[in-house]
Amino acid sequence: MHKLNPDEIKNDFPILSQNINGNRLAYLDNGATTQKPIQVIEAIYNYNTRSHGNPHRGAHQLSIRATEEYDSAKERVRKFINAKTIEEIVFTRNTTESLNLIAQSYGREFIKENDEIVLAISEHHSNILPWQRIAKEKKAILKYMYLNDDGRIEPEEIKNKITGKTKIVSIAHMSNVLGTIHPLEEIIEYAHKMGALVIVDGAQSTPHIKVDVQILDADFYVFSGHKMLAPMGIGVLYGKKEILESMPPYLMGGDMIEYVYEDYATFAPLPYKFEAGTQNVEGAVGLKAAIDYLERIGMDKIEDHEKALAEYALDKMFSIPYVNVQGPKDLDMRGGIISFTVDDAHPHDVSTILDSYGVAIRAGHHCAQPLMRYLNLPATSRVSFYLYNTKEDIDQFVEGLKNVRKWLGYGS
Ligand code: ALA
Repeated sequence: MHKLNPDEIKNDFPILSQNINGNRLAYLDNGATTQKPIQVIEAIYNYNTRSHGNPHRGAHQLSIRATEEYDSAKERVRKFINAKTIEEIVFTRNTTESLNLIAQSYGREFIKENDEIVLAISEHHSNILPWQRIAKEKKAILKYMYLNDDGRIEPEEIKNKITGKTKIVSIAHMSNVLGTIHPLEEIIEYAHKMGALVIVDGAQSTPHIKVDVQILDADFYVFSGHKMLAPMGIGVLYGKKEILESMPPYLMGGDMIEYVYEDYATFAPLPYKFEAGTQNVEGAVGLKAAIDYLERIGMDKIEDHEKALAEYALDKMFSIPYVNVQGPKDLDMRGGIISFTVDDAHPHDVSTILDSYGVAIRAGHHCAQPLMRYLNLPATSRVSFYLYNTKEDIDQFVEGLKNVRKWLGYGS
């Protein structure tokens, strides 16, 4: 199997060829959002110049074409994650909306007083706040699985927190801060044994590793298009059909209905009962083109490439005495996200100084304040890789990093 060639791939991404602050751009903020290849940009252009109409609403050719584009994007997503049927694929705006949909629909309907909802302490706010709201409304109990010193959840922690009272376990596949890949197989198997449903936030995993929802057996799996080469504003909610069928609609409005009477309505079949209002068809078209692009490269090659980059970067970072890497040391337990701190430098300063070297990274609490508090850190800096990143990008980042403390007036 040949490795992917990031230099060749980079040629497909016009935005990456520019200079920033007089330097070549090393874009290492892929956990926040990814860039688009020309193939995705062209697919959206072609849709807008040939096929744009409102899907499922007209008998004219443009509406028919838009419907075909929308539905075929859904089929493409189904195949990508190996869902059984497109009834299990709901388009949303993003991961956040998918999680809110589950909490507001499933949670409101099925969570009762004293039921327990289990999260990991490393969750993104979008997988905490919807559950805080439901827990408050229903007088349910929120519990957190904590991490060991290596940023991982121990098997005993899973058994301590998930009990016969647990109704929902909601956890990220890969932490957006630490890059930890959580032990989903163990969590899902144990949660199911205890009678709980499992929701997986796949925002940071779906773009980078092969996901098969049938093998994983998660009850819900959610992710965003913009972290996998597609536009912002298109997200996915996968849910097992029988569970989605048992859930009431989340938003009410056009296109999610069957019949509407003066005082009641019946709803469209899956997945449309969860898709009220005009949908983001060009986002769906972009997502389909993005999946085509990723699969043409190969998800296994993308994963291997990012692991190699993480190994290369970690090696260099571990050798700098004033750089402190967070999260698992073991490469098998992590993906291509590395959070770190620099002694005597605030992460925001680190990020600003690196920007002057053309290196784009994220700094802050990464929408994970409970984790930051747990780690006793105000913030971290974070690099996150994708298929177009090269060792040259990492060298540029490390060179910039070595200059951070000098900029701030320290000797080295
Ligand atoms: N959730 C995105 C991140 O981690 C925005 O940066």
